[in-house]
Amino acid sequence: MDIIHTISDLRRRLNAEPTVALVPTMGHLHDGHIDLIRLAKPHAACLVASIFVNRLQFGPQEDYSRYPRTLAEDCERLKQAGCSVVFAPVENEIYPETQTVTVEPSALQHELEGAFRPGHFRGVATVVLKLFNMVQPQLAIFGKKDYQQYLVLREMVQQLALPITIIPAETVRAADGLALSSRNSYLSAEERAEAPELYRALQFIAECIRRGESPEESCQRGQQRLDSRHWTTDYFSVRSARDLRVPTPHVRELVILAASRLGRTRLIDNLEVTR
Ligand code: PAF
Repeated sequence: MDIIHTISDLRRRLNAEPTVALVPTMGHLHDGHIDLIRLAKPHAACLVASIFVNRLQFGPQEDYSRYPRTLAEDCERLKQAGCSVVFAPVENEIYPETQTVTVEPSALQHELEGAFRPGHFRGVATVVLKLFNMVQPQLAIFGKKDYQQYLVLREMVQQLALPITIIPAETVRAADGLALSSRNSYLSAEERAEAPELYRALQFIAECIRRGESPEESCQRGQQRLDSRHWTTDYFSVRSARDLRVPTPHVRELVILAASRLGRTRLIDNLEVTR
């Protein structure tokens, strides 16, 4: 496995590769990321994982500086998983000057996560487009744990006619249901024991919806359950799984999305449900 830090070395390394798959990450890898590598493997001769903590997608009050950076361990895990190339650029390689040209995703960028993290999806779409241009993959994998990110990026690829197939990957969960996330490492032991309650609330809401209860009321009840346990919720919302619009009554494929804070740690999760 090659560990590459510059765009020119990357281009030289990938020049003769017939098919390239990209798994973009911000590092501090967990089993969910390794699953993305496993999923990509049969599709391409060369598997590239990028590791870059993208300042552009963090708000001024967010955790950019304390985001865990564990390059050596990450590379070891990627090697074991059969990754061909790790692209780990320094900040100056991706943003040699202030990024004044940015990707403006559709209005979906301002809802749900975007309502609480202004500019987040502009930052994500901009860096992902840059990574696509640097790596030039035929295929890229994104986890459905970040469901809205997956849809924003899928829309970017469609609308900008990028010759890239986006493959979604199912969320990987710990045995107790907590969705794997690099940010889980911020949780204290006590918070970690409490954290699966977010998924339990989503499961409760899904059950209510399957029983025919209204999505809004089900959401309210699920959120109340969590908030009574001292979580601070940003949102619980039921949307159309296809496009994240507010669903009309005939839309059957739904996704319940939630973001809530446990102490200082903000967790997000989602669950698809058919009614
Ligand atoms: O999902 C992430 O880790 C990041 O948002 C991504 C896609 C690597 C862009 O920085």
